[in-house]
Amino acid sequence: MRSLLNRFRSSRKLSPGNTHGNGVRKLDVMDGPPKNADESAAIIEELSQTFHVSLAQMKTISEQLKKEMQKGLNQEGATVAMIPTFVSGRPTGEEKGRYLALDLGGTFLRVCEVDLCGNKEFKIRQKKYKVPLSLKEGDFCDLCDFIAECLGSFIADLNPGGSILSTSSTHDHSTTTAGSSSSSSSSSSSSNDSTTNVNNNSNAAPSSHHESTVQPEQDKYQLGFTFSFPVFQTSINRGVLKQWTKGYSCTNSVHKDVVEMLQEAFLRKQVPVNIAAIVNDTVGTLMALAYSVPETAIGVILGTGTNACYYEQMKDIKKWDGGETATDEMVINTEWGAFDCERLCLPLTIHDRKVDRESLRPRQQMFEKMISGMYLGEISRNVILHLIDRHILFDGYSSNDLNKAYCFDTSYMSSIELDDTPDLQETRHILEDVLSIPSTSLTDRQLVKHVCKMVGLRAARLSACGLAAVLKQSNLVSAGCTIGIDGSLFEHYPDFESNMMQALKELFGPYIAYKVKLSLARDGSGLGAAIIAMLAHKNARRGDIPTTTSSPSSTSVAEEQPQQDVQQYQKEASVTENHKDEKSIKENGIQEQQEQVDTKKEIQDTNGDGKVPHQENNQKREQDAADVIEEVPKKQDETK
Ligand code: BGC
Repeated sequence: MRSLLNRFRSSRKLSPGNTHGNGVRKLDVMDGPPKNADESAAIIEELSQTFHVSLAQMKTISEQLKKEMQKGLNQEGATVAMIPTFVSGRPTGEEKGRYLALDLGGTFLRVCEVDLCGNKEFKIRQKKYKVPLSLKEGDFCDLCDFIAECLGSFIADLNPGGSILSTSSTHDHSTTTAGSSSSSSSSSSSSNDSTTNVNNNSNAAPSSHHESTVQPEQDKYQLGFTFSFPVFQTSINRGVLKQWTKGYSCTNSVHKDVVEMLQEAFLRKQVPVNIAAIVNDTVGTLMALAYSVPETAIGVILGTGTNACYYEQMKDIKKWDGGETATDEMVINTEWGAFDCERLCLPLTIHDRKVDRESLRPRQQMFEKMISGMYLGEISRNVILHLIDRHILFDGYSSNDLNKAYCFDTSYMSSIELDDTPDLQETRHILEDVLSIPSTSLTDRQLVKHVCKMVGLRAARLSACGLAAVLKQSNLVSAGCTIGIDGSLFEHYPDFESNMMQALKELFGPYIAYKVKLSLARDGSGLGAAIIAMLAHKNARRGDIPTTTSSPSSTSVAEEQPQQDVQQYQKEASVTENHKDEKSIKENGIQEQQEQVDTKKEIQDTNGDGKVPHQENNQKREQDAADVIEEVPKKQDETK
C-alpha cells in the first residue's frame, strides 16, 4: 500500500501555474510531500499567507469592534454585550480586610483567602481544584454543590485545630463605597482618599427559606465570586447567566441567577459564607493590578477564554437604567469573545469554520475561537490534518490519537514553538510519543512548528486588535495606561506579548510602547474579587445587612466576633471536614492542586493552558496535592 502511494506521489508534478496572485504557489490535494527546500519554503509561505493578519485587516477589525462596543453600550442584546458591572472608581491600595474568593474559570476552581494588608500589600492562601468534565456538562446544581464542598473543605483546612480564622474585617478606613440611586446620597464618598465604589441595588444575600437555620449574615465569611462567563448583572451580587462559553454546558442554569443558586448550595452544604459580589475574571484582574498599580485602566484575560473590561463614562452607557451612580464611570465587561459572530470582518479560514461548526456552540464566540487557549490547539490540529490529507505531512498518515478532537493541546504548541533543538526533539516527542504518529521527518516537524507559529501569531495580532478597540473607546491611546492581563497564553505562550506589542506599534506607531504597558496580573481575579467583596460588604453593612461591627478601626472581625459564633462555626466546619463532604469531594473526582509559585511547572491542563504533561511532573503534582495551602505574600506588580 505504501509503495503504491509512493509511486503515485512520485508520478505527480506540482503545477507551476497553481499559484496565489502574488506568485506564491498554492498547493492542492494532488501535492506530495515537499521534496526539496524550495517546495518546503512554498508550503511555509502558503501557511504564512493563510494566517497573516495584515495591518489593513487589523485596522478594520479594531474599528468594527469599537463600533460593536458602542452598539452594546447603547442597547441590550448586542453581539458584544458590554455588561455594566456595578464596580466603579479605583482601589487605593490601602484597603484592608480578610475575604474569601472563588474563581470558577475554564479549567480550574480556585479558592482563596485574601488578606488585604494595605500599603498595596496582600497575602493569598489558595487551592486549585480541577473541575471534572462531568460537572461542566451536568446539572448546574451539582456544580454548585461541588463548589460548596471545595469551599467547605478549604475553610476547614484553614482552621485545622478548629480555631477560626478572622472573617471579613472592614477596617478599610481609606476606601468608601457608593450606593445605588436609592442610597447614593447617603453613602457616597465619605472619605477623601477613597476612590473605589460598588453600586449596589440589593446587596443582601440572596434570600432563601433555609436562611433562618444558619448563621446570621454578619457572622458569615464574605466572599467575592469570580465567575468567568457572561452574566447580566442586576446588582453587585446578582447576575443571570447569559450563556455558557469555553467547555461548559451545564443544564438548569442559563437565564438563572447563578449567585442565588450557589448561595443555596452553601446553605445545603452548611458552608457559612455569604456571596457579597459576583465578578467577571477580567474585572477581578483589573482591580487586582489597580490595587498596586493605580494607572491600571483595562483588565484582559488571554487564557482558556478571552475577554476585556475597562472604565466607561456613565454618560456613554446609554442603556444604563440603574439610576444615579456615585461616580461618573463604571467598569464595563465587554465580553469581546462574542465579537463578529456575524462574520463580517474576522479572517476566518476553512480550519476556523470547521472548529466552529464542530464546537459546542457554533456561530458563537467567534473572536474567542480564533484567540483563546481552548481553541488554538484544535485549529492547529485541523491544519495538520489538512496537510496530512494533502500528503504533505507524515507520508499522508495520521494516528488515532491525532484524529481525536481537542487532543492537540495548546500547550503542545507552546512547547513546539519553544523547541530550538537542531532536530526538533521536543516536537518529535509530542508527535511521536504523545500523539503516536509512527515516524516524523525533520521537514514534517519544521512544518508543524510553522503551523503552530502562524496560529499563535494570528491570535496575538487579533488580541492586539481587541486592545486597540478598547484603548480607543476609552481615549487612552495618547494618555496611556497599564493593562492588567492574566491567562496562560499571555503568560506562557512564546512571544505572545511581544507579538501583541508589535501589532499595537503597527496600529498606533512605535510610541505606543511607551504609553501602554502590558502587565501580567497572574491569578489576579481572586485578589480583585476579594477587593470588590470588601466594598460590597461594606456597602451592605451600611444598608440592609445587620452587623455587630461598626468601628472603623483596624480591628479585625475575628477579634470582634462573639465567641458563640466561633463555636458555631467550629461545629459546622467539623461536619464538613469529617464526613460526607470530604468523602463526596473524593468521589466527585476532584483533583486538588496546590498552587505553585512557579506556574511554568504547572503542566497538566487538558483545556489548553500550561505545558506538555510528563510522567514525573504528574507524580510530583500528586505529592504536592498532599500539601494543603500555600501562603504567597506579594505585591501584584511583583509577579512579573
Ligand atoms: C467568557 C468571559 C470570560 C472569558 C475569560 C469567556 O469565555 O465569556 O466572561 O471573561 O472567557 O475567562
